[in-house]
Amino acid sequence: MTLRIGFVGVGGISRRHLGNAAARQDVEIVGHADIRPERARAAADKYGGNAYDHCTRLLDTEKPDAVVICTPPDAHGDIEEACAERGVPFFVEKPVAVNLDLAARAKRAVDRSGLVTQVGYMYRFSHGVQKARELLAGRRIAMVQQHFYMPGLPPPEWWPYLERSGGQLTEQATHMLDLGRFLCGDVVAVTGTQARVRDWRPRPDTPEPGGLRWTADPFTIPDTTALTLQYASGALGTLSCSMVPGTAWDNGFRIVAEGLIVTIDGGNVSWRGQEEGSVSAGENWQSYVLYDFFDAVIEGRPARVPYDEGVRSLAISLAGHASAAQGGTPVDPRDLIRDLGL
Ligand SMILES: NC(=O)c1ccc[n+]([C@@H]2O[C@H](COP(=O)([O-])OP(=O)(O)OC[C@H]3O[C@@H](n4cnc5c(N)ncnc54)[C@H](O)[C@@H]3O)[C@@H](O)[C@H]2O)c1
Repeated sequence: MTLRIGFVGVGGISRRHLGNAAARQDVEIVGHADIRPERARAAADKYGGNAYDHCTRLLDTEKPDAVVICTPPDAHGDIEEACAERGVPFFVEKPVAVNLDLAARAKRAVDRSGLVTQVGYMYRFSHGVQKARELLAGRRIAMVQQHFYMPGLPPPEWWPYLERSGGQLTEQATHMLDLGRFLCGDVVAVTGTQARVRDWRPRPDTPEPGGLRWTADPFTIPDTTALTLQYASGALGTLSCSMVPGTAWDNGFRIVAEGLIVTIDGGNVSWRGQEEGSVSAGENWQSYVLYDFFDAVIEGRPARVPYDEGVRSLAISLAGHASAAQGGTPVDPRDLIRDLGL
């Protein structure tokens, strides 16, 4: 079987997925939809398929077997509903939305349709993380220490706006928060504090760190966030994220469990205690999440990170924002989901 795939939103991250999709013999890329038609045209020229300026035109003309959605965090809801109405399975990049109202619309449509869905939480699939999950199963976990540091501001124009990106906590640290859920279970309370440490206003001769931006105006997001997390298991956790370092990417975990300390560095994992070892992420490991989706559609089985998982992980970031806005009152992410009747 050849899986006929459409792409919706062909900016930065779509290039990774387009390259990985093109590498599969059993996948044909049939169309690209972007509100910037020149981007859809450029993707079509490079990867084949036709260019569209709206996702419904792509869906109704090409009738793809599945769609890969790589739109910004505030551009969700309509696209997922359009896929669900037509029974088209979709892969969607994290975070599933910038707020739970948009996510709820998509989730209701997904639930009604019973579609195969996958959220792009790629860290779950690395060989190292798979090993960590095996090592932690059945052990008491005491502490889940997570961090995501990056050298500056990513290029997309929507990034410095809180209502468009959700800031680093929603857009990016969601990778770590999701991994925390995957390895250590649900979070039942979040307290948050946020700060703006740097002056991000444009200044003459400001060096740009490694392809990222170092200034923006306006800039309405915090650049530094600290969360404390309480897990349903009784474990405690923290998340630190910041855009201030200006030097290197650094994301990972330390999980303190009975008899074992597990360190996650990107997709690589090492552990020490009652036993010692390490497992690396795997070759081209960032493709695994997409390939699991393709295989799920072909085999007619659920994918491993269905849409609902994305909603639950998003709710932790939003609980962190809500807590920070309330001066640090604990917020239960499950309440945010329940309030929407999900
Ligand atoms: N998994 C990862 O490591 C990773 C890395 C980077 C980005 N992402 C996620 O991918 C998503 C996209 O990020 P990006 O960096 O590619 O952003 P981007 O701005 O570079 O690309 C988004 C594209 O979507 C298009 N678009 C916007 N609204 C649309 C709509 N309604 N219909 C069709 N196209 C539309 C834009 O014109 C743009 O070309 C974000 O949610 C981001 O968090 C994930």
